Amino acid sequence: MQSMKRLKILILDDNPLCTDKYASILKEQGHEVFCAHHPTQAFEIFKSTPIDIFICDILLPDANGLDILRTIKQNHKSVDVIMVSGQKDLNLVAKAFRIGAFDYIVKPVSAKKLILSIKRTACYQRNISHPSNISNPNSLIDNDLANKIGREFIGVSQQMQHVVNMALLAATDKEMNVMITGDNGTGKEIVARIIHHASERHPEPFCPINSAAIPDTLLESEFFGHKKGTFTGAVENKKGCFELANNGTLFLDEISEMPHGLQAKLLRAIEEKKIKPLGSNEEFEVNLRIISATNSKPEKLISNNKLRIDLFHRLNTFMIHIPPLRDHKQDIEPLTNFFAHDIAQKRKMNPIKIDKRVYQKLNNYNFPGNVRELRNMVNRAILISGTNTLSPNNFKIETMANQKPNAKGSLKLEDNEKKLIHYALIQSNNNNSKAAKLLGISRDTLIRKKRKYNIFLSENNWFSKNPNGNYNFL
Ligand SMILES: Nc1ncnc2c1ncn2[C@@H]1O[C@H](COP(=O)(O)OP(=O)(O)OP(=O)(O)O)[C@@H](O)[C@H]1O
Ligand SMILES: [Mg+2]
Repeated sequence: MQSMKRLKILILDDNPLCTDKYASILKEQGHEVFCAHHPTQAFEIFKSTPIDIFICDILLPDANGLDILRTIKQNHKSVDVIMVSGQKDLNLVAKAFRIGAFDYIVKPVSAKKLILSIKRTACYQRNISHPSNISNPNSLIDNDLANKIGREFIGVSQQMQHVVNMALLAATDKEMNVMITGDNGTGKEIVARIIHHASERHPEPFCPINSAAIPDTLLESEFFGHKKGTFTGAVENKKGCFELANNGTLFLDEISEMPHGLQAKLLRAIEEKKIKPLGSNEEFEVNLRIISATNSKPEKLISNNKLRIDLFHRLNTFMIHIPPLRDHKQDIEPLTNFFAHDIAQKRKMNPIKIDKRVYQKLNNYNFPGNVRELRNMVNRAILISGTNTLSPNNFKIETMANQKPNAKGSLKLEDNEKKLIHYALIQSNNNNSKAAKLLGISRDTLIRKKRKYNIFLSENNWFSKNPNGNYNFL
């Protein structure tokens, strides 16, 4: 491992006890440290010294840390800013990220937190060295966290760094409900796991539940449990996910798929922190954090009457948006390398070499299925190649320019989506998991889309229901 460069670090905090404490920790690490107790003092130092990292307290007596951050980002673009905030300032810190802060530290600032934040900042922005507890050079989470969630989170773009920072920030408040938005396959579930495992709740369960994958009639019991004999088929007592996730995190995937009646019951359970299993007279208390996810815009769900606004406000104390892969293309190369390495390791193959032209080809594609689609594509390329070298022709993608619209066929996205789903189901012998893999979407998403278009198989023919209620052959 390379050693870290001696950095010039400026600390702004009105409290000299704080600046002295941080300074002594950072000096011990071999850095050159400057302290300011007032913004004007900090601006003076910026004029005369090429600062690498600026540590800025958010709450200053006669200035707002965010205004200072804005000024610094405008005038000294290359400076990385770490904001320091009290526990109660979470919204402020979220704003700080939007303005361009690189990292945050929640008070009290320990030597460990400070050193790791400096290492992360230095490692990411300047690629100088690598924190000792991060194994993959492009991983955005440390080893310990990756082990806990059983996965790496890869990225080099500012956007993904921002997502991880927001997730780690959300983790610090174990009571806060979080809503994650992003298209299919962008990594919503993995981010939910990061929040859970980085939080105090991590020894307790993380329970994912997807309303799209469960028939409406069973949903209530899935959520709240039931007593034996409550309905036909209730042959024994069953615990619902609220009880199973108690003290831990409940991950509500695809919230928009939840029937309205259940949304009302969910709201009550969240507000009262109590649940009552079906057929039971007893209520019991639950304590959990809810992380919800959706691939639609929440405002749209609310206006389309798919999500209750009161429930939305309860779930959305903190919002994290994951951008589609086409908006952070710098991550395509590290993700491709990571997936190739990961898949080769799992299959006990020799290390995989990737032709540089592969990245060019992938960069010209817009990845409607996002990171999951890229992973499936790499998987397929390894199979097709049959060697340990991947070249562009192992990646079967149609670039937009090559796609010729079929003059006879409809160009309507919906029609084509139905046809593709149909085709994938035939190819996979009506196996949802396999068809989803072919389509580059999750099984749950496929099931949701099948329900949306009412796609079903009857006597060896596939049907889809029209908006006017008629059934069409596919
Ligand atoms: N940054 C990343 N680094 C490594 N793997 C990733 C990353 N983002 C996503 N993945 C992988 O891509 C796949 C899809 O991620 P995930 O299931 O979290 O997406 P999602 O947004 O929940 O998708 P859906 O909307 O379809 O449910 C998973 O295999 C996940 O491990
Ligand atoms: Mg998901």
